[in-house]
Amino acid sequence: MSIDSAALREHASRLRDTPIRALAATPGRPESQALRAGPLYANFARQRYDDAALDALFSVADAAGFPSAMRRLVDGETVNATEGRAALHTALRGDTSTSPAVRERAAQARDARQRMGALVDALSGSGVTDIVSVGIGGSDLGPRLVVDALAQTDARFRVHFLSNVDGNAARRTLAGLDPSKTATILISKTFGTQETLLNGGIVREWLGDDSRVYGVSANVDRAAAFGIAPERILPMWDWVGGRYSLWSAVGFPIALGIGMDRFEQLLSGAAGFDAHAVGAAPRDNLAFRHALTAIWNRNALGLATQAVLPYDERLRLLPNYLQQLVMESLGKSARLDGAQLQVDTVPVWWGGPGTDTQHSFFQALHQGTQVVPADFIGVVGSEGGHEENHRALLANLLAQTEALANGQPSDDPHRAYAGNRPSTLILLDALSPQALGALVALYEHSVYLQSVAWGINAFDQFGVELGKQLANKLLPALSGDAQVDDPVTRALLDEINARSGQ
Ligand code: F6P
Repeated sequence: MSIDSAALREHASRLRDTPIRALAATPGRPESQALRAGPLYANFARQRYDDAALDALFSVADAAGFPSAMRRLVDGETVNATEGRAALHTALRGDTSTSPAVRERAAQARDARQRMGALVDALSGSGVTDIVSVGIGGSDLGPRLVVDALAQTDARFRVHFLSNVDGNAARRTLAGLDPSKTATILISKTFGTQETLLNGGIVREWLGDDSRVYGVSANVDRAAAFGIAPERILPMWDWVGGRYSLWSAVGFPIALGIGMDRFEQLLSGAAGFDAHAVGAAPRDNLAFRHALTAIWNRNALGLATQAVLPYDERLRLLPNYLQQLVMESLGKSARLDGAQLQVDTVPVWWGGPGTDTQHSFFQALHQGTQVVPADFIGVVGSEGGHEENHRALLANLLAQTEALANGQPSDDPHRAYAGNRPSTLILLDALSPQALGALVALYEHSVYLQSVAWGINAFDQFGVELGKQLANKLLPALSGDAQVDDPVTRALLDEINARSGQ
């Protein structure tokens, strides 16, 4: 069953002359368009749909079977059909499932967590002060986000992240660190990723002591072959997708950076949201609503990009994290049955933290020719101190969502704001580990439900393989000793080699 985008577009054209300002003025709308789930509050009053359009969206959810899709996910069914496996990130953080097989996975995850806790304790009792986490994509972005968001100034360890294969990244990361007080964790689900193996080799050599080299992988043999002692290798599993894996031992840098207790709280926040996504009625279900809103903006309004704008410095890496989560999951054009999709899937996700971005790209959001729907995220409590700054931050957050929605007419076209630019406002009381866990789980489930509506697989990523294969093939050509077939690549290589004196 695929989305009837014509029906959605009919609602969109019916609403063409009804601006957000008018929709939002409907009595009771600001309240009725607010959903709550544990520590999360989200208000959809400034989206460009009315009740009739929402009914059409909920028909999409019905036809796609959102509630049973959530059940299939948490019960470990083969939701990753192209690779023939489950995607059980929910089993890493709770017991949402009643399936004995999934409970067994959850028990495996708890055992791994216990081993991880013991390694955290051992490192805490050592002279190590700095951790270099080496990984890329799903083996980097989640831990990087959470450590950046939640690490406290008096943290036991400073955690550094090294991902890019560019040697400048390794040079910069290691500069200023003392090898005798540093440990490294090589994180790679496959343990075959070029960037991680090259960077891991650099850090291991720089350390000069293998007893402070740790690994996290679903391929323990390869990690051991790299020279990591088995007692310092933590497992993950093929039933966890890389970009859904921060809740597993991939979160080892998180546990070191924020402490094991707060890591557990992060997991319990996500598990709380899992229970909501599985159990809440469709109309109260925040994951359902978030996914349907994304579908509305993409398939009814035809909007090609989506911004995520956290108004909290600690969430500055959320857009980077979500780019992988959303775009690697939903960047597909073939349906599960192999047919070409007849509707658009993922928009380009981008963003950055407010208020900085107000002074960079917001001009385009307000007056550019492309309408960009946005998720604004705010934290109510002022946890950074400096109350006056926090009030200013919140005032800016509210002002921007209002200005984008309502606009402002002017006789001078250069000074006119068209408005009618949709946004969702998500509020957290505080940026606690629980709240961050719930927020990330919201996006995970929204992404999955969008994939269900589009009939695509959110858990594979074949699109990244071709470039990797070509890069491996071209590697010898950079030393001048390989045949290159493509004429443009050959000319470019000649140019590079000539310029580098080869
Ligand atoms: O970018 C492709 C990808 O396969 C991601 O899906 C994954 O998170 C990343 O590479 C790293 O893979 P690994 O954890 O196996 O090193």
